[in-house]
Formats: sequence, C-alpha cells, structure tokens
Amino acid sequence: MSTNIESGSLPDPDLLEQLANQFFRAVPGGNSPESLRNPQDIFSSSQDTLRNPQETGSKAADPLPSAYSRPDPAATPAEVVTKVPMSVAGSGVSPSAPDSNKTFNVKDPQTSLPDPHFSDGKVPSSVAGSGRSPSTQPAFSDTSSSQPTSSQAPPLQAQSSSTRSPGSQSALSLPYTAGGSSDPYDMGLKEVLSGITSFTHLPQLPLASASESPYYFLQEANPMHLVNTFPSGGLPFGGVSPAGLPSAAAGHVVSVNGHSGLTQPPFDVELIKKDFPILKEYVNGRRLVWLDNAATTQKPQQVIDRISYFYQHENSNIHRAAHELAARATDAYEGARGKVQRFLNAGSPKEIVFVRGATEAINLVAKSWGEQNIGAGDEVIISHLEHHANIVPWQQLAAKKGFKLRVIPVDDNGQLLLEEYGKLLNSRTRLVAFTQVSNALGTITPAKQIVAMAHQAGAKALVDGAQSVSHMRVDVQDLDADWFVFSGHKVFAPTGIGVLYGKETLLNETQPWQGGGNMIKDVTFEHTLYQDAPGRFEAGTGNIADAVGLGAALDYVSKIGMDLIDQYEHYLLVYATKLLKEVPGLRLIGTAPHKASVLSFVLDGYTNDQVGQALNKEGIAVRTGHHCAQPILRRYGLESTVRPSLAFYNTCADVHALVNVLHRLRGGH
Ligand code: ALA
Repeated sequence: MSTNIESGSLPDPDLLEQLANQFFRAVPGGNSPESLRNPQDIFSSSQDTLRNPQETGSKAADPLPSAYSRPDPAATPAEVVTKVPMSVAGSGVSPSAPDSNKTFNVKDPQTSLPDPHFSDGKVPSSVAGSGRSPSTQPAFSDTSSSQPTSSQAPPLQAQSSSTRSPGSQSALSLPYTAGGSSDPYDMGLKEVLSGITSFTHLPQLPLASASESPYYFLQEANPMHLVNTFPSGGLPFGGVSPAGLPSAAAGHVVSVNGHSGLTQPPFDVELIKKDFPILKEYVNGRRLVWLDNAATTQKPQQVIDRISYFYQHENSNIHRAAHELAARATDAYEGARGKVQRFLNAGSPKEIVFVRGATEAINLVAKSWGEQNIGAGDEVIISHLEHHANIVPWQQLAAKKGFKLRVIPVDDNGQLLLEEYGKLLNSRTRLVAFTQVSNALGTITPAKQIVAMAHQAGAKALVDGAQSVSHMRVDVQDLDADWFVFSGHKVFAPTGIGVLYGKETLLNETQPWQGGGNMIKDVTFEHTLYQDAPGRFEAGTGNIADAVGLGAALDYVSKIGMDLIDQYEHYLLVYATKLLKEVPGLRLIGTAPHKASVLSFVLDGYTNDQVGQALNKEGIAVRTGHHCAQPILRRYGLESTVRPSLAFYNTCADVHALVNVLHRLRGGH
C-alpha cells in the first residue's frame, strides 16, 4: 500500500493508525490495534508479566506501581505506616500527584507490592527497630541464617566434605589445629574479631554523613521511618552512632536526624551479607563465597532498588528541560555528585566529574591535561605496582610527545622504595601517577607522602583510588592530590560509572578532551565556549541512573562508616594471611606490612587456573590471572597468581572455606 505524502495536506489520522496497526500486527508478538489507541493497555496485555513477573494478570488494572504504594524494600515493622513526604522536584515524588500525602500501610495488599526479599511477599512483624535484617527471621526460610556469625566461627574438627550440606560452608573441616589452637596469636585475632561483633574493642569513630537518609525518596524526619532507611532495616548496622561507637553491646539509644530513641544493633557481618542478594546464590551446590572483590564488588539491595526507582519514577535526560522528570533526574544526578564530594571530602561538587570508571578518568587526564602540559624532554613517574590503566595511557602519550616514563621500584614485599622515588624526581618531572592500593598485591602506598614529594619537585600528582575507596576513608584535601580517580563498581555501585576528582582551578585550566552536548556554554560555527568543570568534561548524555546508584552505594558504606570497614577488613586480612601462610607450599605474593583486601598467592603443584577451578567447585570465587598488572607480577617472576580479595561482607567462615580447599589440594584429597 502506498500513501501520497506530497499532497501538502495532513495525513488522515485514521489511515495512519490503520497502517501502524497493520505494521505492528506483522511484527512477531505485535499488539492488537487497540493497543495503539490506549498505550496504558499495552501494559495490561501480555507484557505485564514481563514487567513484573510477581504480578499476575489480575493486577493488570494497576499495571504501573506508583511511588505511593511501593513499600520500602528495607521496611521491617509490620505496622509502620509510611507517609510519603510532600513533594518537590527531584524528591522522587511528583507535586502533581493527587495523593502525594496519602498514607500507606505496608501490610495492605492493596497498596503494596510483594517484597522480593520474601517468598510470600509479607514482611515479618518482629524485627522493627531491632536492627535485625528481616531475612534473619527463620520463618522466611533463609538458609543463611544457620550460618554462624564471625564470632561464632565453627569448630574446625575434621568433617568429610561429602557430609556437608549446601550452605554449610562455615561448618568446615580444616586439617590443621587453628580452631583448637592455643596459639596466642590466633586466639588474639579471634578475640579481636569477636570484639568487633560485640562492640567492646572499638574506638570512638565519627559516622560519615549520618544526617543523610540513604533513600533519596524516603526523607521524612520521623524516627519510626528512619529504622527503615538504614541497611538491614536497622540503624547503621556498622554499629556506629552519630555520636560515636557505643561503649557496650546493643541496646543503647542513638540520635539520627535529630531524632533519638532507637536501639542500636551490634555490628554483625552476617546481617551485612543479607543486604547483598547475590550472596544468597548457590554455585555448584554451595553458597557463593565472593572473594573477587578487587575485580568487582557485589551490590546491596539498597543500590539495586535505587536504580530501579530511578527508572520507575525519575528517568529523564538532565540539565535539558523544564519538565518535572528532568528536574527529578537532574536533582538525583547532582545529588549523587554531592554524595561523592562528601565521600571524598572534596572542596566542591564542581571538582567531581562523572566518567565511566577509573580507566576513563586516567585517560581523560592523559588526553587533556597531559596532552596540553607534557612535552618532549619532560618526565612522568609511575610505580611498579600500577594497573595497566595507569601505565598504558602514559606510555601512549610518551610515544606521541617524546617524554620519558620512569618507574618507582618496589622491594621484595611489594613496598614502594621511597628513597628511589626521591631520586627519580627532578625539575623535568611533570606528573607522578600512582595507585593508593595495589590491585595485584594489596600494598597500601604512602600516598600523602608521595603526593607531597611530587609537589615539592613542582610536579602534579594523580592518585588511582580504584582499589582504595572501598576499604579506607579517603580525604582528597588531606591527600592534596591534584586528581583522584575511582570506579563505582569497586565500591558496591554499578559498572559503567566512576569519578575523576580534580582540583577546581586545575580542571578549569584544562581544555576538554571530548566535545558535544552538555559541555558547552555557547556554540557558533566559528567558536565554542566551554562550561566550567565539571560540565566541560561531561560531553554527551552520561550514565545518569548509575551515578544515582553510586550515590546510594556511598550512602550505604558511609552508614556503616569507612573507618569501621577499614578496621574490620584489616582484622580479617590479618586472619586470612595467618591461615594462608599455614597452607603447605603456598607462596604469598605481596607481603607489605600495610595492605588492604588482596591475598595473591601461588600454590606448589597446581597451576593458578587449577586452584581457581577447585575453589569454584566449592562455590568460591577468586580471580586468577595477571590482574591487568603484568609488570608487578613479573617483578616476582610470575605471569599470574590466584587472588582472593576481601570486602566488608566477607567473614571468617569465608576465609575458612577458602583455606580448607587449599589444604585439601595440598593433602591430595
Ligand atoms: N582491575 C580489576 C582487577 O584488579 C579488574 O581485577
């Protein structure tokens, strides 16, 4: 069929619709003609189950769950009535919604969607304010509740692996005597770990951004609701109150957002685990043990929900329109920038540029500031520890501009040799680019000192924080770094989003590396005026939703407290190091006294892949390979290692599971 579109008259709407319906009928799975008359009906047709598999066709009359009926997935109290706050642009609640003040009972099936956490969609009634995750309730058939907490590490008697049931990795047999050991070192570690659980050994630590609700869309200043806004349905389960850590175990009163009267739960890593749905997965019949955190971290439900909420209620392009959703999306995106600023203690949100990840951030600096400021005869210093992402861009630039790349050496433990670094610095040095934590060895570098030495020599300093931000508090003003980069996915946020921090003046002195929309003030065919930072480095539509997800992830870790995370992981790393060292034939690669997270090793008699596969059979995920850091592995005569890497949701039981397999391999059974 053909139509005449040259007659100059408007096309007949009925004819258009008829044509369109014919077209869509021809498409496999196409909708009926009526669907084009009433777009709402599209969602009540067969697509409904695709959008929300939990809903049956009988829910089709209300196909689009609104913000006003959706319960907070973290909500625990059965009778808590969640009053949605008055709306403003970007609050996540439309001011035009007729029922924006409507109250909802989270148990009311008419106003609630099933909570994906619970098989029957109900929330338990007994956990309100207890600080316990709903999933700890046995009634909800969460098998992980049978796992011991870190302070209740199982007795390590011999137990045949064939008698182990799925999910019982913590009930491990270890063919050595650590469990019953009276070794004071071992006992001391266990005491320290149990001290974390019971709060008795921790110093007073401040809580980062305690005044902020982790949920962008739940900001009502009502203490009853605050219970729901923290991970695991409790207050910052890191056990940190805004006033500092309690001096005793659970049961003290805290004050959040000016409200007090809530009971503080103890730090319990098993509860933390429950915020990460993927940690409930089974792999080869075993509960997943995720020890590949240096490659990427898992995401808490709060981050998953925040992204989902964005797409359900806020999705729009940003900075570009007067409509409501543009305002919501812009507020959410810029709100996330503010969260990053506070997380890094940057001086201004203008210093936070959203990029794809640490790799893109380093490339940005190389291809903008580097191109513009480093020339023939200059020198750039990197370290032997660097990830390829902090080697290749400088190598490429050196080849193009004719400058020299120099490398800070390490000692046999993997520590940077500062004296040698000092000798490399000179008046030709333009830049020192180095990692704060080595992804292959775990070495923590003395970043502040390295930056200061670079500045003394008149050079700029770039710090790669990809492996540090999830393990320790970072303060870019204290570090005095000129640039600091990290990837969201290494800090419990989505992939495809990352951050370049740069000092504001420096960013504004630097010409952009990519041109396009969003980064301009004015464009003519002759000339373009650029925005100031950060806009000048954010050409095109960015990864808006995942930036918002990053904000939620930073809220999440801040609620626990980065210092507490640092401390817990430190003890766990020491504990794991001790146990790994006892495995016969195991050589640890990277034994610096200051380390975070990473436990690279090789095992006599096995290739690294064989070790990785043996661990995978037991549901344990580690990375094997060169870790995108070939130069440092070659420093130790290796092409690859096995690399378990810890995060705060890992437990002693996870470490036992790892070590048990290694002992079994070495025992030959
Ligand atoms: N950089 C990541 C790692 O170290 C991918 O595994």
